Amino acid sequence: MRFSSRIIIILACIGTMSLFCWWLHAGPSLPLQAPGDPLKTNFTFTVDTFLHVQQLRKKKLRSFCRSHTEFQEFLSQDNLQQVILHMMVNTKLEFVYCWVPALGMDSWEQLLHTLAESRHLTMRKPVNSISVPLSALPVNYLRDFNATSIAMILRSYTKVLFIKDPFQRLVTAYMQRFAGEITFNDFIQMILRTKSREVDVLWKPLVSLCWPCLVNYDYILKYGFLGQEVHHLMGRLGMPTDLVPEFADAQFKWTDSWLGKQLASELSSEQKKQLHKAFLWDFAAFGFPDSQLQN
Ligand SMILES: *[C@@H]1O[C@H](CO)[C@@H](O)[C@H](O)[C@H]1NC(C)=O
Ligand SMILES: *[C@@H]1O[C@H](CO)[C@@H](O)[C@H](O)[C@H]1NC(C)=O
Repeated sequence: MRFSSRIIIILACIGTMSLFCWWLHAGPSLPLQAPGDPLKTNFTFTVDTFLHVQQLRKKKLRSFCRSHTEFQEFLSQDNLQQVILHMMVNTKLEFVYCWVPALGMDSWEQLLHTLAESRHLTMRKPVNSISVPLSALPVNYLRDFNATSIAMILRSYTKVLFIKDPFQRLVTAYMQRFAGEITFNDFIQMILRTKSREVDVLWKPLVSLCWPCLVNYDYILKYGFLGQEVHHLMGRLGMPTDLVPEFADAQFKWTDSWLGKQLASELSSEQKKQLHKAFLWDFAAFGFPDSQLQN
């Protein structure tokens, strides 16, 4: 079959799947299932479950950081600019987060924007909160602040990290940028051949994109559960939860996983092994037990 016709078939299937997902989404009381995820057993996703999952994720990350001395250096003037390169700040809501492409963070940023505009918002501030001068823009790059402010922000703001299975990130990058030009297999060969995975933010490992061993993130939110997790996060911080929008990741979970399976089947087990090795840090730091690269 010619490649272009295969792409058409894939896109047609995605369309069908999306409809199916929409139907599932709109349907009554759907239990969300994600094998291997702590949230899978019962999707009465309470705030206790949320906090428990946060503890598990942070524990796993801490253990990764302890056993990888290359990430144990301290945040210093020398590495600061690189570490905070992708970090964004909302000074009004006192949030810092690492911006990862293709992770469905548009809804998150939209939410922060809406909240920041909301006049009746009262923040529940941490006891030792230090105030940093509010900037004119609600969202900025952390790197645009001076060193004193950066240190204060990293100490006192709520720091959020968003994570996504490396293979799903590759699939998204492929669909957005390369599908129709090269096969998925060629794309993967390109990633494996070049050093570009350390350069391109689309698939650079999160461990060296967001530096979770150097930045002490307060919350780790996972793609696939963003709506529920952001809902609980806002509740914890005393912010209105009725403004939390739909996050597309839950809606596309089945499409993503179906497409991931199709594309993974185009790879040899050797390629999968090499990919797993290339993203070993992210797997070690965050798990992703249901990734196509884990079996
Ligand atoms: C899921 O939670 C509900 C409400 O807390 C409970 O009634 C039900 O038994 C639980 N189901 C499972 C499979 O744990
Ligand atoms: C850093 O920026 C803040 C706010 O703009 C300012 O008040 C402070 O003086 C600056 N500090 C230095 C060392 O430039």
